Amino acid sequence: MCGIIGYIGSQQAAPILLDALQILEYRGYDSAGIAVLHGSTIVNVKAKGKVNALRARVDSAVQGLGGSLGTMGIGHTRWATHGKPDDINSHPHLSRSGKIAVVHNGIIENHTALRLLLEGHGFNFVSETDTEVVAHLIEYLYRGDPVKAVREAAAMLDGSYALGVLFSEYPDMLVAVKKDSPLIIGLGDNENLIASDIPAVLGHTRNIVRLGEEELAVVKRDAVTVYDRYDTEMIPDVMHIDWDVTSAAKDGYEHFMLKEIAEQPKTVKNTVAAYVKDGHIDFSLASFDEEYFRSIDKIYVIACGSAYHVGVVATQLMEQYLRIPSRAVLASEFSYMDPILDEKTLVIAVSQSGETSDTLNAMRYAKAHGTRTLSVVNILGSTISAESDDVIYTHAGPEIAVATTKAYSAQLVVMYMLIEYIGILRGCPFMPEDEFLNALHELPQKLQELIDDSAYLRDLAGIYQNRKDIFFIGKNLDYALSLEASLKLKEISYIHSEAYAAGELKHGTLSLIQNGTLVIAICTRKELLPQMLSNIKEVSSRGADVITVAEENTDGVEECSTHCIRLPESADFLQPSLAIVPMQYFSYYVALLRGCSIDQPRNLAKSVTVK
Ligand code: M6R
Repeated sequence: MCGIIGYIGSQQAAPILLDALQILEYRGYDSAGIAVLHGSTIVNVKAKGKVNALRARVDSAVQGLGGSLGTMGIGHTRWATHGKPDDINSHPHLSRSGKIAVVHNGIIENHTALRLLLEGHGFNFVSETDTEVVAHLIEYLYRGDPVKAVREAAAMLDGSYALGVLFSEYPDMLVAVKKDSPLIIGLGDNENLIASDIPAVLGHTRNIVRLGEEELAVVKRDAVTVYDRYDTEMIPDVMHIDWDVTSAAKDGYEHFMLKEIAEQPKTVKNTVAAYVKDGHIDFSLASFDEEYFRSIDKIYVIACGSAYHVGVVATQLMEQYLRIPSRAVLASEFSYMDPILDEKTLVIAVSQSGETSDTLNAMRYAKAHGTRTLSVVNILGSTISAESDDVIYTHAGPEIAVATTKAYSAQLVVMYMLIEYIGILRGCPFMPEDEFLNALHELPQKLQELIDDSAYLRDLAGIYQNRKDIFFIGKNLDYALSLEASLKLKEISYIHSEAYAAGELKHGTLSLIQNGTLVIAICTRKELLPQMLSNIKEVSSRGADVITVAEENTDGVEECSTHCIRLPESADFLQPSLAIVPMQYFSYYVALLRGCSIDQPRNLAKSVTVK
């Protein structure tokens, strides 16, 4: 939640900060602000709403100050947690003297106690935010050494933070520190940047340092120094990012979501290619030997949102094929259920961002209880990937739209490969490895066919765009898929939608079905078709319109549906990867026709780094 940026270099900071905030807007978009050092004064400009509103204000501030500002500054785009989205609560926040400016991503849990302490020392607060505490606290502790003051303040904070701090008395440095919220440093040529995420700095550099827990960086125009949590200077790992700038840009598409849906064949191909060597699946997992995979007697997949839905698909397949008790658990619930964890338990954390706080905390809980953890993550070097015992990266590239599409597909593919890999070791794979890999290699082409043939889904969306309630039903893997399809639709179109196991409707939900309700019935499980057809009749006879989603050549579905979406034939376990594509398009077009903010749905953010 929230995107932060900092720049120090030889160019005007304001336009660079604004452009970066626009890129980071997917992290939060209810208000934004920048603070730029202009001479010895911090010019702080903030605005409720999206970055464009801020841009207009910055333009007039720059005009008022003679046409230019300074070359060092920090910026923030907010997803409100403490205090409503407005000009005052937006960041940066200034200290009492106006000489220190702070941007923050995270939550300061002890902000009330700190506020009382600081009020006792004469600090007055103007905002309702937890972050303003940090600005005043640093000033309270400041005795001429900015690094020391930031470090001491950080030590007093409970909760999570990525902080960018600017001191007007130190025009040659920014100070950054982080705990449980992401922060990267972009190493440029005579310029350096701090940011919440890599795409924000790609226009300047592809050399990145990812700050570790409680590490602090002093960022100057021509040098960056990183200190570990004990304040010992360290040599940071520099990662070279091989994405180009266009992979984080819309590239002619109307929305990132549309672009990312269309990128799924490439994403799947890259992800599969990364883990096949000499015709065999090869994850090169340093922390997990073959003996371990033979010994596990239980699997938990912990994740949130769409990543949890990947877990639902995967655990059904794990139990069915590997015959290992397997359960997908919402990460935010994991510790409360007091899970049975031991050395024979495999805990898999799935996360696109690798920063989701609920998933991170669940994974830490598992580790603290003696269980080895494996993460499936998209973002290189992110906290979950760094803290898990081992990691399998999905190769989806940057995903910008809040609604995940290509990362979801990449996660599914990794899960299929992991199941096949464990299955081979335990003598119960999906199918012989060569057949399995052939089926996976055919998947990108089938995805491409669905993408090439998606225009009709806009017409279908046009018919149903004004429905009040839309239900998704399915059985087994199709139920898991229904969960994801329903989330996709409600997340971006704001239409009320729910997913049900098809057989469960008659236990209560059927009372909601009436004339005009739309039910989308996913019917890819051929062996379950007779039961699905009965469930479809239950809803159509009560007035629902029904769209069925089924493989080509599945008989009997046209007759009982208002519309039918057809899928290419494939191995059963791959159907979740195919069936989701028309569902993504349908959601996208419904949202488009309803005029919704597709890439940045209301109240949401891409990376949820709060509990
Ligand atoms: O970054 P993560 O994969 O950990 O994010 C988990 C969820 O927040 C995420 O999948 C969310 O549900 C998506 N916006 C759904 O499209």
